[in-house]
Amino acid sequence: MMQENIKLIDLIIELADARIPLASRNPDINELGKGKSRIVLLNKSDLADQTWNQRWINCLEAEGIYVLEVNSKTGAGIKAINGLVQKACAEKIERDRKRGILNRPVRAMVVGIPNVGKSTFINSFAGRACTKTGNKPGVTKGKQWIRLNSKLELLDTPGILWPKFEDNTVGMHLAFIGSMNDEIVIVEELACDLLDSLRMLYPNSVTERYGISWWEDTAATLEAIARSRGCFLKGETPDLKKASGLLLDDFRSGRLGRITLERPEAAGVH
Ligand code: G4P
Repeated sequence: MMQENIKLIDLIIELADARIPLASRNPDINELGKGKSRIVLLNKSDLADQTWNQRWINCLEAEGIYVLEVNSKTGAGIKAINGLVQKACAEKIERDRKRGILNRPVRAMVVGIPNVGKSTFINSFAGRACTKTGNKPGVTKGKQWIRLNSKLELLDTPGILWPKFEDNTVGMHLAFIGSMNDEIVIVEELACDLLDSLRMLYPNSVTERYGISWWEDTAATLEAIARSRGCFLKGETPDLKKASGLLLDDFRSGRLGRITLERPEAAGVH
């Protein structure tokens, strides 16, 4: 369906999760979006480390990608998108102008992996002021377009890309942010993997939040979190499953602080 829709559009707005800008982008988009203008939005930038947001922006821009950090929930950064669209589509606009086509709006489609924030983004970007343009000549019947302004129209169905992963780290990172169903992972293992990453990158986030010290053994650290949060099974046995859920929830909602798990250098991107 995306392949079909992509024929109708000039621009792809790709949402990535600022905490994991590599794992949350599907490499298939390069093939799918060949010949289209591209913008990458680092969404949920409020949950990611500010220093690394900027580093990722620099790094993606160096690849020739138009990029912005946004927070779809509050709308921060969203206003700047219109200007960027004009930049990203400058060639198309110029081509149109030479053919005597003036003021044809750029048509864009929003794509991203599940849970990256596509629906929230569309609501925030399009707001209430937008009007659905419905069927128009030259637009395939049944397709709904949202007219944002005289210069930009959005196809109102976001394109859902399935995450793609060949290596375990990518899968693990997607599970950390909740893009995979927690029912298909062993939550205690996932929590220990997250603790290992946090110990390496943000050791204070855990010790400060739970008032514990790091144990050499990760499972013992999880146990310490269970104790400090009063998660017990019958008797004094720590409830590791409950503590794991709590830790993942704290991470996902930003209560452990602003955290970026993927770094351009470590990922071989410079
Ligand atoms: P999708 O269409 O790509 O599947 O994602 P959706 O918009 O449903 O967003 C998934 C979750 O991410 C939602 O939270 C949404 O509020 C949150 N979200 C989206 N953009 C941002 C952002 O920039 N910053 C933050 N902090 N959160 C964002 P939820 O827990 O499912 O719902 P709720 O907490 O909003 O009730």
